[in-house]
Amino acid sequence: MKTLSTWQSAQSTDIAFVPTMGALHDGHLALISQARQLSPHVVVSIFVNPLQFDNPDDLARYPRDLEGDIAKAESAGASEIWAPTYDEVYPGEIERISSGEVGKTFEGASRAGHFDGMLTVVNQLFKTVQPRYAIFGEKDFQQLYIVQTWVRKSGIPVEIVPAPIVRESDGLAMSSRNIRLSPTDRQAALVISKALRSGSKERALEILQSEPAFTLDYFEIIDPATFTIAHEPVPGSRAIVAGWINGVRLLDNMPMEVRV
Ligand code: PAJ
Repeated sequence: MKTLSTWQSAQSTDIAFVPTMGALHDGHLALISQARQLSPHVVVSIFVNPLQFDNPDDLARYPRDLEGDIAKAESAGASEIWAPTYDEVYPGEIERISSGEVGKTFEGASRAGHFDGMLTVVNQLFKTVQPRYAIFGEKDFQQLYIVQTWVRKSGIPVEIVPAPIVRESDGLAMSSRNIRLSPTDRQAALVISKALRSGSKERALEILQSEPAFTLDYFEIIDPATFTIAHEPVPGSRAIVAGWINGVRLLDNMPMEVRV
């Protein structure tokens, strides 16, 4: 771990920050490359934040590979890798950040406290790293919206930079949880991107329901300005979907027009 003083002495260059929970895949590495375009000083954090898990089993089974992560992050362009302990991230009484009403919908409805825990750790990480830019993937579209809204409201001087979703060649959105899918489950998971590409909610629901291994949590078309369901055409509307295959939670999204 590089020390705080290393960062402080580097304050003359703007830090581009990529927060992660590790088990890095090409989706994370694309964020790191994008960060490198913004600044030569790229900080990657690796911390599995217990506060954003509502399910102890999901936390316990979250994949961890610090050695592999360090090698991958460095080759993608990270100049500092910070893998703090719990006490380093939360040294005293925890300053809890609320994700508001949007934080209780969709991902937040299924995972109580998830977005409050996510914002709480992002706040801690930002306080230490003090980045000029922070890169967040569109894979977690609601997370990106919540971080952007919180940064704007609280006047934190960080520019949130969105990064496009990186997919496997067959369309499955990359995720650290994908390695928990058996080959059969992995095949079944393809219905998600297929449904998103279908162009309408009705067709998408048919496709998702045709796969018995997939349990749907939600499929909705949202207004990206408010992150609420879009009932009429709005610019930039997006289909968001989540569900489970054999207990593994999967989520994805894609631009989709609203048909009324
Ligand atoms: P994690 O799931 O490790 O993701 C770290 C970043 O990588 C997030 O911004 C996420 O959206 C992005 N990402 C993951 N898969 C991606 C893909 N296939 N394409 C593009 N980007 C992808 O998100 C978190 O960690 C945590 O909530 C965190 C922000 C680190 C706070 O704990």
